[in-house]
Amino acid sequence: MIEAVNGETRLCGLIGSPVAHTLSPVIHNGLAAVLGHNLVYVPFLVQKDLKSAVLGAFDLNILGVNVTVPYKKEVMAYLAGVDENAGRIGAVNTLVRTENGYKGYNTDYLGLKRAMESEGIFVKGRDVVVLGAGGAANAAVYMCAQSGAGRIYILNRTKKRAEELAGRVKEFFPDVELTALETGQYEKLPKESLIALQTTSVGLHPNADQAVITEEAFYKRIAQAMDIVYNPAHTRFMQLVEAQGGFACGGLKMLLYQAVTAYELWNKVSIDEAVCRQVSELLEKQL
Ligand code: ATR
Repeated sequence: MIEAVNGETRLCGLIGSPVAHTLSPVIHNGLAAVLGHNLVYVPFLVQKDLKSAVLGAFDLNILGVNVTVPYKKEVMAYLAGVDENAGRIGAVNTLVRTENGYKGYNTDYLGLKRAMESEGIFVKGRDVVVLGAGGAANAAVYMCAQSGAGRIYILNRTKKRAEELAGRVKEFFPDVELTALETGQYEKLPKESLIALQTTSVGLHPNADQAVITEEAFYKRIAQAMDIVYNPAHTRFMQLVEAQGGFACGGLKMLLYQAVTAYELWNKVSIDEAVCRQVSELLEKQL
C-alpha cells in the first residue's frame, strides 16, 4: 500500500463478480509500494450493469481496470478498441485508458508466456500438450501457436470442445499443427520431451487430491509442465509430473505476470525481475 492517499493518487481496480477472493490488490498495491507510485488498486463488485461500470470508471478518470469472471467477453462491447490478440482470443482482462475510452488487452496469455519463460520453459519449436479446452486453454493454445510451438495437442474430457478450440486457433495460425484428443487418447501423443500446460480447475482447493489424468504412461512423456492452479501451491498434477522425473511449476507466477503486464500497460513502465521477485514474496505470504 502507498503511505497516504492524496489529491494526485491514481486509482486502478478489478471489475467482476465475485471479486472478494482476489489476490490482485496484493500484487498491484505491492508493485506501487515497491516502485514508489502514488496508485491504489481496489476490487469493484459489478452485479448489474457492466456498461455503466466501464463508462463510469472512465469518467471517474480511473487509470486502469482488470476484468474477471463473468465479464471477459461481454466487456468488449463497451471499449474504444480491442488489441488484435485479445480480439482473436475472444477475452479481455485488462482495460487501458485512451483518449476516447478504454482499450482492451489480454494479459492472461502474455502472463502465461512470461511465467513459463521465467521458469525456463520455452515453447518455440517444442511439442506441447494443453489439458483442457475452456477459456484458460484458449489463451494457452493461442500463446503456444503464436510463440512458434512445434505440434500442439489439446487433450480434453469433451473432444468436441477440443476440436472447436483447435479450429478457432487454426484460423489465425493455419500452418501450426494442432490436434484435438479426448483425454483417454493420450497414447497418440509423442513419447517424450513434451511441455504440458494444465488449464482446468481440477485439483483446485478443496479438491487437491484430483488431477484430470493420473496414468503414469501420460506423465512419462512430460519433460516440463505448468499448472495454472496456484492453490494448493503443489498440485496433484505437479506431483504426478515430478514422480516421472519431469519439472513442474504452479500457477502463481502466471497470476503475478498477468498483473505485472497490466501494471506496465497502465503506467507505461517496464518492471524488472528483481521487483517481480519482491512482489512474488508478498503474494506467497498471503497464501
Ligand atoms: P475456464 O474458462 O476457467 O477455462 P471452462 O470454460 O469451464 O473454464 O473450462 C473448464 C475446462 O476444464 C474444460 O476443458 C473442462 O472439460 P469439458 O470441456 O469436458 O467440460 C475441464 N474440466 C472441468 N472439470 C473437469 C473434470 N472434473 N474432469 C475433466 N475435465 C474437467
